[in-house]
Amino acid sequence: MSDSKKRARIIGTGMCLPDRVVTNDDISEWCDTNDEWITKRTGIRQRHFAEEGISSAMLGADASKMALADAGIDATDLDMIICSTVTPEQMAPMNALLMQDRLGATNASGFDLNGACSGFLYGLSTANAFIETGMAKNILLVGAETTSRLLNWDYRATAVLFADGAGTVVLQADDTGAGVLTSHMGADGSGADILNMAAGGYKYSPTWEYIKENPPIIGMNGQELFKRAVKTMSNEVENVIKESGVSAEDIALFVPHQANARIIHAACDRVGLPHEKAFINIDHTGNTVAASIPIALHEAKEQGRIKEGDLIMFAAFGAGLTWASALVRW
Ligand code: UT7
Repeated sequence: MSDSKKRARIIGTGMCLPDRVVTNDDISEWCDTNDEWITKRTGIRQRHFAEEGISSAMLGADASKMALADAGIDATDLDMIICSTVTPEQMAPMNALLMQDRLGATNASGFDLNGACSGFLYGLSTANAFIETGMAKNILLVGAETTSRLLNWDYRATAVLFADGAGTVVLQADDTGAGVLTSHMGADGSGADILNMAAGGYKYSPTWEYIKENPPIIGMNGQELFKRAVKTMSNEVENVIKESGVSAEDIALFVPHQANARIIHAACDRVGLPHEKAFINIDHTGNTVAASIPIALHEAKEQGRIKEGDLIMFAAFGAGLTWASALVRW
């Protein structure tokens, strides 16, 4: 049903996982952990790591080529590229512009956005706002990460969780009633201690001595994060349901951020969504931060889990603290 409002509609999806597969048993060879612990506590069985020299912008460009082909539009039709990432190829130029060049998207502006695990949905809200206001018609939204570069194997609590990959959606202005029906972003900067990634910042000069004394590490209070993730993601889903006047039964598929299969199931239980409605692919991807939702969405589509007219619910929670949600009609 059309209300002639302009919305961002997803017209193409793509993904790229780097070639190197790392199983839990592989990790157990160099880290004090084991397959049983990782599988039971997180649902992760394997993940992909990018080889040295492969960047998030490269993975993002590959995922984007697939998404553009799926959408059936040319890179020159894009008028904006948004890349969500906490692990850009470099500080400047941004991933979005490196990809613009690699894709030949000569008519597109672009910028990077750091919303951590909520980054893709922050990007979706942002892109939708540009499209609703008529400032853009075709937007490439990418989540791309090489989070493996931040892993410290002496800190097993987070080292076993994160991984690399990229996912892309092509968004197009649409007034048929399909697209982003509702979206929401939330944040609590006072929660920085609960999950953080200090490496790569410029509070201190990155001398060799400094880097050696302060190796990359993802700091996390796992249990606190777990509780907040379940509560916040389920509240987000409930709010979206209320705001858009639909019911839990109307939702065809829930595509959440893939941080932990147990978090996803607990959030489903709190809002009365059957587990089968949640798409979970963390078993073979690990937590790919901003890339997790677009990778999951692409896989869900490839598996025939989405059909035209379906209502798709998205929710995410992550460092910042940030959280976000969206309801999309396919
Ligand atoms: O994407 C951003 C959002 N991220 C999240 O939402 C993550 C939220 N948190 C979680 O998913 C879970 O808290 C974890 C999966 C990170 C951890 O699971 P947990 O059930 O909360 O474990 P825990 O931290 O309470 O640790 C339990 C035990 C401890 O040993 P003791 O003290 O009971 O002897 C840990 O030292 O497990 C130990 N442990 C490990 N053992 C083997 C912690 N990490 C590991 C490991 N391998 N990798």
